[in-house]
Amino acid sequence: MADQASRLREQMSLWGRSARAPEAQPADQTSDALLPSAPVFAILSGKGGVGKSNLCVNLALAFAEEVMRVLVIDADAGFADVEILFDSTPLWTLSDVLAGTAMDDALVAPRPNVHVLAGGSGRFVDEIDDESWRRLWSGVVRVSPRYAWVLVDCAPGAHAFAERILRQGAHPICVVTPEPTAITDGYALLKWMRAKGFGVQPWLVVNRAKSRAEAEDTAMRLVDAASKFLQMAVVYAGWVQEDPNVAMSVMARIPVLQHAPASAAAAGIRELARWMKERVGGGGRDRKGGAAP
Ligand SMILES: Nc1ncnc2c1ncn2[C@@H]1O[C@H](COP(=O)(O)OP(=O)(O)O)[C@@H](O)[C@H]1O
Ligand SMILES: [Mg+2]
Repeated sequence: MADQASRLREQMSLWGRSARAPEAQPADQTSDALLPSAPVFAILSGKGGVGKSNLCVNLALAFAEEVMRVLVIDADAGFADVEILFDSTPLWTLSDVLAGTAMDDALVAPRPNVHVLAGGSGRFVDEIDDESWRRLWSGVVRVSPRYAWVLVDCAPGAHAFAERILRQGAHPICVVTPEPTAITDGYALLKWMRAKGFGVQPWLVVNRAKSRAEAEDTAMRLVDAASKFLQMAVVYAGWVQEDPNVAMSVMARIPVLQHAPASAAAAGIRELARWMKERVGGGGRDRKGGAAP
């Protein structure tokens, strides 16, 4: 009963009604010796289809436009969205690297300054054992000095890959849309992170908002609910407008930043890239582009 009542309070808070905070829970700290030398971001969502892959690919292009090198890892393994969005056909995928293929051999460069470890259509990864994970992560760490940013496009939901990469110190970027399902599932994801003891301040991106006001309202519901009920400081990072150019760009297999560079969606993504740069201090400042992966 008590559990039900507290769940109801959380729900009400998400919809902008008053609710009282429960007791704080203790947080764990995580660490690992293998530290990458570029910031690693895990792009996550509770609900699927909220725009993670498009955001990831276009953020990478926004950084690349400023001659910063970016590594994109498509960790929605088995679903090849990143390579489709870039219209590229990589030979090797994440599952190959988990199985022992060298990271250097597996990377492709679909655009100048953008390197990709592909997800691979149908190349599913059911479970990642410790040894496979070490192979992948040590590969990321090894190549990381070449990049200003590492962006990891994750599968939706709370899953073992997200847990592993967050434990490794990747910073979560949670993507939601203003839809109640996306907000509620986004909150559930934050709750999962809290329950797992990640002492992080996730960044929040609201995609497909009709206006700045709608994006801010969506963000504040989540920020407030996370603060009250999870004692978690969620940071509103930015928003991207609902924009038909995104779907058109997907059909054309040219990311919206290049397909419709002056579009509202492209502007929102560039603004988010600027925000990230300011927040992180320019990513890996010195890693200018040029050489092959
Ligand atoms: N800002 C946006 N405006 C309009 N449609 C969008 C926007 N962002 C994403 N979409 C649509 O949502 C679909 C799903 O996006 P995708 O990036 O594949 O989501 P996810 O990776 O979260 O599953 C895209 O194919 C596109 O048609
Ligand atoms: Mg995706």
